[in-house]
Amino acid sequence: MRTVEWANGQVRMIDQKALPWELTQVDLPTYQAVAHAIQDMTVRGAPAIGAAAAFGMALAARQSRASSVADLIADLREAALFIKAARPTAVNLAWGVDRLMAMVSQGSYPSADALRDALLAEAQHVADEDVEINRRMGANGAALIKDGDTILHHCNTGALATVDYGTALGVVRAAFEQGKKIHVLLDETRPRLQGARLSAWELEQLGVSYDIIPDTASGYYMQKGEVKIVLVGADRVTANGDFANKIGTYQVAVLAKENSIPFYTVAPTSTVDLALASGAEIPIEERSKDEVLTPYGQALVPPHFHARNPAFDVTPNRYLSGIITENGIVRPPFVEGLKRTVAGEKV
Ligand code: MRU
Repeated sequence: MRTVEWANGQVRMIDQKALPWELTQVDLPTYQAVAHAIQDMTVRGAPAIGAAAAFGMALAARQSRASSVADLIADLREAALFIKAARPTAVNLAWGVDRLMAMVSQGSYPSADALRDALLAEAQHVADEDVEINRRMGANGAALIKDGDTILHHCNTGALATVDYGTALGVVRAAFEQGKKIHVLLDETRPRLQGARLSAWELEQLGVSYDIIPDTASGYYMQKGEVKIVLVGADRVTANGDFANKIGTYQVAVLAKENSIPFYTVAPTSTVDLALASGAEIPIEERSKDEVLTPYGQALVPPHFHARNPAFDVTPNRYLSGIITENGIVRPPFVEGLKRTVAGEKV
């Protein structure tokens, strides 16, 4: 089952809010509903958001009553702005929308329906390509994993965070499929618990050995010498190799360096934003304080207590051993290597 797909003229996605208790899918009939599903994290994870955005644009084209190409393009421009506003940090959201808008500006279409068909075909292509790219990243990264390794992982970067297979957990999966005996320590990832709810659910399905650990325990296991490598995903990698990822990634990176443990991010080139020079320019999403005070409807403290809830942090490039992409592993210094991988060159 894919995380996000096109089904019966609608966008179908796994409802990640219901996991691990229930595996259900929702069918979304409008691009506004797709944008809302991105915002409320029915679908989440940078590449999955990118694919949802692309399908959302294909849906917008079908929703539009425009009979001329020019009128359809005007409606698509409006939809593009609406979808892009759903969440600010993962660049894949804008990437997915822009990839479809590039079809609009670069092609010439005899009719509005021809453009509608071209957009759906491109969204489908984005989704298929994502799975293929993840498998390539998996193979590139698995070369770093040794038999018997324990891997520390933050958030969820598996099939659920992508169309299928995963990025950092895709590397874990590839190593496991190669027959390596591995164990994964999963940061639970407060406050939305993507590690405990989603990553553990995925490793259960795959049969990979794991333990959920409190976020506060990762330093303890690193200090004890149990962790051989840290693998995380990314929501946006800037031109210098700084990257935004789920809140808590930065402290894991600092602890890894302190304990001389290799630390890698696994990210497709669609997550690389060469327009930004450094991580200081990445917009960081601030989500509702209710996610901290009342996670999943369960009040931890009285709801009027004060809280802050940044959803991402930025890890400076000096903490990174490398960036695992579909075109190879980019090593520091990152500027040239990132440019080359984004251009499609093997590194
Ligand atoms: O808020 P989320 O759950 O969308 O955040 C997800 C992450 O931070 C992932 O690590 C990142 O998107 C990479 S997913 C392959």
